Amino acid sequence: MILVTGGAGFIGSNFVVDWVGHTGEPVVNLDLLTYAGNLQNLDSLQGNPAHIFVQGDIGDRQLVADLLKQHRPRAVLNFAAESHVDRSIHGPDAFVQTNVLGTFNLLESVREYWSQLNETERGEFRFLHVSTDEVYGSLAPQAPAFTETNRYEPNSPYSATKAASDHLVRAYHHTYGLPVLTTNCSNNYGPYHFPEKLIPLMIVNALDGKSLPVYGDGRQIRDWLYVKDHCSAIRRVLEAGLPGEVYNVGGWNEKANIDIVNTVCSLLDELRPREDGQSYAGQITYVTDRPGHDRRYAIDAGKIERELGWKPAETFETGIRKTVQWYLSNQDWVANVRSGSYREWLETNYAARQT
Ligand code: NAD
Ligand code: DAU
Repeated sequence: MILVTGGAGFIGSNFVVDWVGHTGEPVVNLDLLTYAGNLQNLDSLQGNPAHIFVQGDIGDRQLVADLLKQHRPRAVLNFAAESHVDRSIHGPDAFVQTNVLGTFNLLESVREYWSQLNETERGEFRFLHVSTDEVYGSLAPQAPAFTETNRYEPNSPYSATKAASDHLVRAYHHTYGLPVLTTNCSNNYGPYHFPEKLIPLMIVNALDGKSLPVYGDGRQIRDWLYVKDHCSAIRRVLEAGLPGEVYNVGGWNEKANIDIVNTVCSLLDELRPREDGQSYAGQITYVTDRPGHDRRYAIDAGKIERELGWKPAETFETGIRKTVQWYLSNQDWVANVRSGSYREWLETNYAARQT
């Protein structure tokens, strides 16, 4: 069995469902259920004995020690984090708490458990840390894409705390020999993406007849990967990655934000046309930029392709169509996640931005 943290969030829940579907191997899913965690994402596993959900904090050493002792997982996969850059600008504390201290405490609990395994089990054990391309900072327009040897240059409180967690994971390998794997992935999109992030925010605002807030000039570039492809990459790294190694994961899909928003609008125009016959693109509004906004991210996924034979299955065109269709078919999920706290967040992040 494996232990997954953060498995009620966007990527974690996609991973857990995919994992059980592909392998049948049981998963203990430890998630604090912050605003971003949602058990509805795991509805398809209800009653399935291969999924054991535990609500709790990765920083709770006693709880994690008990879970490790009780379930004796062969691997721990750490998805749990505070993940939204804009929230990290408004309130960095939670990011330091979970991403830095939480990861540190988790590593300590895992080190203790791992050190008591027999030699074979110790050799086979893996700690897989799910990280981000944002730790590498911002790329100039013509600069080559991030490789695993790029310097760490995090620019937001979010990316700085993820960078700190990556360094701790690395140190636990070098110092204690813990068999760790780190993945640094580009921007994900797909089902169950919380509508604080660009793509789902644009879909739900468009359908609501609200403005589509594009930061700055909208020419910032992100490298987009369909979430199920991230899941398959993590499965492959866990299966065949070498302890101590880092693998960049990406879809070779660099797009400017404004192009993403226009694509979402065109798909909605086709799949759910506005009653007045106008394009959703008419709702686009340029607003004050994100402070310290990174201009460009791009992932060189050559290493994971060469060494582990992984490639994404979706193109951006197929993935974004599936995503828009998923949101159109899952309006109940959307309605449920847009609770009072979500509305407060929209007020915090958007009310003071000038158009
Ligand atoms: P998310 O915010 O949707 O989900 C995070 C999950 O972690 C939530 O279920 C939340 O309840 C849980 N959590 C938060 N603090 C916790 C704690 N202290 N203990 C236990 N659980 C806790 O995030 P996501 O987008 O699914 O990202 C998952 C991971 O992947 C993160 O580590 C993130 O840095 C990384 N990542 C995300 C992307 C992306 O595009 N979303 C890209 C690359 C890497
Ligand atoms: O690169 C990987 C990272 O991608 C992950 O590590 C993060 O967890 C994840 O949130 C994501 O970070 P971004 O900041 O790139 O994602 P976000 O969806 O917040 O924004 C994408 C781009 O769109 C970014 O350039 C900011 C812009 N944007 C975002 C929002 C929410 C807008 O223009 N308007 C918006 O309202």
